[in-house]
Amino acid sequence: MSEFNPHSLDEDEFLEEVHSVDFWFHAVDGYLRDRTYGRIEGASHPDLDDTDRDNLITTLCNYCIGETAALEASSGLISIAPNRHSKIFLATQVVDEARHLEVFLRRLRDLGVEDPESEISVRANPHLVAFKDRLMELVAGHDWDAAVFAQNVVLETMEYTAFRAHMSTADPATAEVLDGVVKDERRHLGFGENDLGRRLMAMPEKRQRLAEIRRELDNLVLATFEEVQDSLGADRSRRVDLGSEYLDAIERLGLT
Ligand SMILES: [Fe+2]
Ligand SMILES: [Fe+2]
Repeated sequence: MSEFNPHSLDEDEFLEEVHSVDFWFHAVDGYLRDRTYGRIEGASHPDLDDTDRDNLITTLCNYCIGETAALEASSGLISIAPNRHSKIFLATQVVDEARHLEVFLRRLRDLGVEDPESEISVRANPHLVAFKDRLMELVAGHDWDAAVFAQNVVLETMEYTAFRAHMSTADPATAEVLDGVVKDERRHLGFGENDLGRRLMAMPEKRQRLAEIRRELDNLVLATFEEVQDSLGADRSRRVDLGSEYLDAIERLGLT
């Protein structure tokens, strides 16, 4: 890649550049090259004991639900995006979300899950499924502001919070996979912050609608955290932290 300094551009040009396929390609090449399905080739990792393995399968099944939601919603958003550079960015997000789903499915297979589709149905968290349904309803209703908020702000913040926390306790193989996923999610969140930040500056009356959507979705996010961590037997203090980390992160964005 030639020497390029995105900060030399004005704001519109900067956003077009960082949301381009070209920028995306060079970004992912930096952390996916030399990896296969998100894992460092040739690295060996110890097996997990039965309880850890079973807990991890439940967690990964629910990650697959979140990633499927993002894959379906980001592809649906392309047709209702208000401008072409948003459509281009969303196309890169579709590929990222498909890759996330793929690496989590692959990790499930590595853990000995023979039929991930049916395992996901059995272990699905009902609050997360309700979140996915609501997100898809917003996309189907062509409600760009609400849908991009639900996906690129709420869902991305939820995933970013959960994945980062998990990385600090995960087995090395899962941590490798999560590392690449988290880098992508940060980029998706950046798009949501930028897009909505600019639209709210121009149309501050939209803020109230986003606050309503947030109230509705926060409940589903917090209930999802509670239930997944209950099933994992995580200690109570860490469980509270995850919920408040999510709420703090959303609040810091200042969109509602
Ligand atoms: Fe994702
Ligand atoms: Fe994402």
